Amino acid sequence: MVKICCIGAGYVGGPTMAVIALKCPEIEVVVVDISEPRITGWNSDRLPIYEPGLDDVVKQCRGRNLFFSTHVERHVGEANIVFVSVNTPTKTRGLGAGKAADLTYWESAARMIADVSRSDKIVVEKSTVPVKTAEAIEKILVHNSRGVRYQILSNPEFLAEGTAIKDLFAPDRVLIGGRETPEGRAAVKALRDVYAHWVPDDRIITTNLWSAELSKLAANAFLAQRISSVNAISALCEATGADVAEVANSIGKDSRIGPRFLSASVGFGGSCFQKDILNLVYICECYGLPEVATYWRQVIRINDYQKSRFVNRVVSSMFNTVAEKKVAVLGFAFKKDTGDTRETPAIDVCKGLLGDKAVVSIYDPQVTEEQVQRDLAMNKFDWDHPRHLQPMSPSGKKQVAVSWDPYETARGAHAVCILTEWDEFRRLDYKRMYDAMQKPAFLFDGRNVVDPDKLRQIGFVVYSIGKPLDDWLKNMPAAAT
Ligand code: NAD
Ligand code: UDX
Repeated sequence: MVKICCIGAGYVGGPTMAVIALKCPEIEVVVVDISEPRITGWNSDRLPIYEPGLDDVVKQCRGRNLFFSTHVERHVGEANIVFVSVNTPTKTRGLGAGKAADLTYWESAARMIADVSRSDKIVVEKSTVPVKTAEAIEKILVHNSRGVRYQILSNPEFLAEGTAIKDLFAPDRVLIGGRETPEGRAAVKALRDVYAHWVPDDRIITTNLWSAELSKLAANAFLAQRISSVNAISALCEATGADVAEVANSIGKDSRIGPRFLSASVGFGGSCFQKDILNLVYICECYGLPEVATYWRQVIRINDYQKSRFVNRVVSSMFNTVAEKKVAVLGFAFKKDTGDTRETPAIDVCKGLLGDKAVVSIYDPQVTEEQVQRDLAMNKFDWDHPRHLQPMSPSGKKQVAVSWDPYETARGAHAVCILTEWDEFRRLDYKRMYDAMQKPAFLFDGRNVVDPDKLRQIGFVVYSIGKPLDDWLKNMPAAAT
């Protein structure tokens, strides 16, 4: 019987293993993690992550052939296939700080595998890692092997949060990289047989190890590049009177370009894009390719520009000051249908507004107040000196508030900023909101979810990313950065 163990019960490990367990009832799948609260969550009725369809999948197989445990070593020891899906964040200290991937968690997982293994194992890189990581992992395992044989495979995950179950059920492709030896090919086949339970044969691609590792970084860089490209065009649209939605629609009709991933926004967020591009930039620098590094770094620069451009637009439209003014923020997650706030553009926008002394009131259907306060207390450039958990304005008012009611969030506010494209924001009663706001009432749509003309009819001064500006905004002096 095949036994799978996955190290790391996060956004990738949890959903991916749940789907494998569902589709392969004869395989026992155990997801292990050093975090007790995470495992307790996975074993409870309230899963630790919000993902449409996930509850249903977990309920069908948990306790049957899907288990969540903190007994990391025992389950790794018993498995034939060990997935490693631990976090690989950007290094914050030392060599490559701010760019290179921090492989501390990965290395400690690899050393633990070597310590506890008594039988041959296939070790699968599920985490996104720098190209050539498999070589380093192989060295750690082989030098500590005590006769156990290992095959390392790269099987990067392409799911997106908010659509993880859909993506896992019908992936565009499953990518498996392995050594081009008889043992390597046998390991690739063993993993292919797992996915073959539900993924059509022509969607399972096999490559060499380095192509698989690099494909993941390249895919994320290409996706993020599309967003930075359309966001760069959105700035030009605002300057010229073109409409970015019309431009995106027109260029997306070209089958060589395609329509997806062309929505202009306040900026991309999430745990992957920035981290993986920075990692790519660092790798290029290490291989002596500074021009290539600069090319990809520009994708991040445009993203940062887009976020600060949005803040500048808010402040400059409101007579160049938001001090002591209540600004309502609708949406804090980095995209709809997730409660994840990692690298969400809302953090930078809220920090920008707080920096200008605004009083920020936040509503997100999936993000708790504790999470918001923690995110806003964290300083990107000073990790060891976090700000007080609840920043206070000079007059002593609580500067950040979180509410579970969007109308309460907007009551008495001077402006509303939409920062996540939750579907419910399209259906809100904006007239009701307007009536309870200070006048002039501003609405800054960072996700193009509302119809600016309808809101202007209500009385709002409206700014929508990349859309023609209304007279109010045209007549305000351009924001200086
Ligand atoms: P995550 O932080 O949600 O989960 C990682 C888990 O690993 C944590 O629960 C942590 O406690 C656990 N862990 C760390 N070290 C461990 C150890 N030694 N033993 C046991 N458990 C350990 O991260 P994630 O979002 O699931 O991402 C995991 C990897 O997948 C990253 O490399 C990421 O880049 C990649 N990835 C993420 C996504 C995504 O949408 N989040 C998509 C594709 C790929
Ligand atoms: C991404 C990749 O899509 C996925 O393949 C990879 O495995 C992990 O990283 P994720 O970060 O979960 O997935 O979500 P994604 O849908 O890619 O969105 C990332 C960010 O880009 C979000 O903030 C989203 O709002 C933004 N975005 C996306 C845009 O601003 N415009 C778009 O057109 C698309």
